Amino acid sequence: MLAIIGGSGLTQLANLDVSRREVVRTPFGDPSGALTFGSIGGQSVVFLARHGYGHTIPPHLVNYRANIWALIKEAKASRIVSVASVGSIRRDLTPGSLVIPHQILDYTWGRSSTFFEGGANQVVHVDFTHPYDEALRAELLRAAEAMGEPISEGAVYATTQGPRLETAAEVDRLERDGADIVGMTGMPEAVLARELEVPYAALCVVANWGAGRADSSDGIHFESIEAILQAAMSRTRRVISALCSD
Ligand code: HPA
Repeated sequence: MLAIIGGSGLTQLANLDVSRREVVRTPFGDPSGALTFGSIGGQSVVFLARHGYGHTIPPHLVNYRANIWALIKEAKASRIVSVASVGSIRRDLTPGSLVIPHQILDYTWGRSSTFFEGGANQVVHVDFTHPYDEALRAELLRAAEAMGEPISEGAVYATTQGPRLETAAEVDRLERDGADIVGMTGMPEAVLARELEVPYAALCVVANWGAGRADSSDGIHFESIEAILQAAMSRTRRVISALCSD
């Protein structure tokens, strides 16, 4: 079972042949919405819209633990692909680009970011040297190549708290820290999948230049983000269908 978590711009998967929807509860509360089960090219897929199907849950209020728990423990997902829109910090990653990040910086705070809460259980420190699953990253890259979709391999993904966008000085700092792209949902999602030992990789869509990075430099405009996301998400769907026909 392949799980796909859709972010902004991907609240449904048009190429998913839906068989059923299931509302599940978890020991950590409710996931962002019902799990949508179906298939793409014969591959069983479970889809979940990270921000809810009406896009009503902001990044800092997403119940990441419930989402990951539901996909792995209820839907029995054996790998998870996260689709997420990001801002770009690196010059060559122009809006509309697809990127497979290889590293993470975490600036989030106050999010429940572990399944291991101590109590009667042993403290667990998972290895997170390489936050994304290499084999799944490679598969995503091959899928994009098979579809002739240009895709960038490797980027450092900075996760900010949101829901506001960054200041220009914050984006400068992220660059000094080594970040290439910035989004609000990469963490704790990735580490929660790691804690449950399920391969996880992200397919990021560059929606905009990071704050202060556009040549016009007069702010970030939501209408243009929307148009770029729409176009890039249809390319994302093509990559996902190639991944499913592997
Ligand atoms: N910053 C943070 N998250 C984002 C951005 C951004 O510029 N664009 C899309 N998600």
